[in-house]
Amino acid sequence: MTRQRLVVANWKMNGSLEANAAWAEGWMRLERPACEAAVCAPFVYLAQMKPLLAQAGLGLGAQNVSQHAAGAYTGEVSAQMLVDAGVEWVIIGHSERRTLFGETNAVVASKVKAALAAGLKPIVCVGETLQERESSQTLRVVEEQLGAVISEVGAKALASCAVAYEPVWAIGTGKSATPEIAQHVHAALRDAVARFDVETARQLRILYGGSVKPSNAAELFAQPDIDGGLIGGAALKSEDFHAICAA
Ligand code: PGA
Repeated sequence: MTRQRLVVANWKMNGSLEANAAWAEGWMRLERPACEAAVCAPFVYLAQMKPLLAQAGLGLGAQNVSQHAAGAYTGEVSAQMLVDAGVEWVIIGHSERRTLFGETNAVVASKVKAALAAGLKPIVCVGETLQERESSQTLRVVEEQLGAVISEVGAKALASCAVAYEPVWAIGTGKSATPEIAQHVHAALRDAVARFDVETARQLRILYGGSVKPSNAAELFAQPDIDGGLIGGAALKSEDFHAICAA
């Protein structure tokens, strides 16, 4: 089974009209990589990035979505609004959303449901903290995080999603998981999906995230169950993101 590689930039709360345009210009000077790739930009820049990314052969993504369809939810953005903005992908359940903004497994699951209902492709993030890893809770934690989504939308719905394994201790720390550690968790996640639906598990793209850079991408992506990456810091420079895509 060959799954098409997917590499996604998570710009987080970074960028400006000027910097974003320069990023796209820089990217367009480089040769198009063979993998599928997308950029998840802050909400206010989605309209700016839509035509630039289309020209660059890159997909457009958002970094969050409301679980609600419409109404009195000040400051929130619905899945249908993202569709209106031309968005294809949406990151859901990033550890920064879980820890800084109190998103529980149940909230994450309902956001995935809302995104799927609107026709978006969720990138469902899971990952353990350092303390959970050190107390041998990694697989229990990530399977519980993914299990909450499966209970809400069913395993077959994962065919329209990607999953991102992002150990919290590796995000923005410069300290990536080793290829072996990441592969072990990716294989466990695929097995967990296969217990519900073997075909969906075979096709599911499981991305690794957490301090991926041009220098370590190739060895991570060489692992059999690592199908691409979710890239934070290194995605802020188009040359580095391009080098990771090329890997
Ligand atoms: P990082 O972030 O690449 O800067 O570690 C990854 C992420 O948070 O998605």
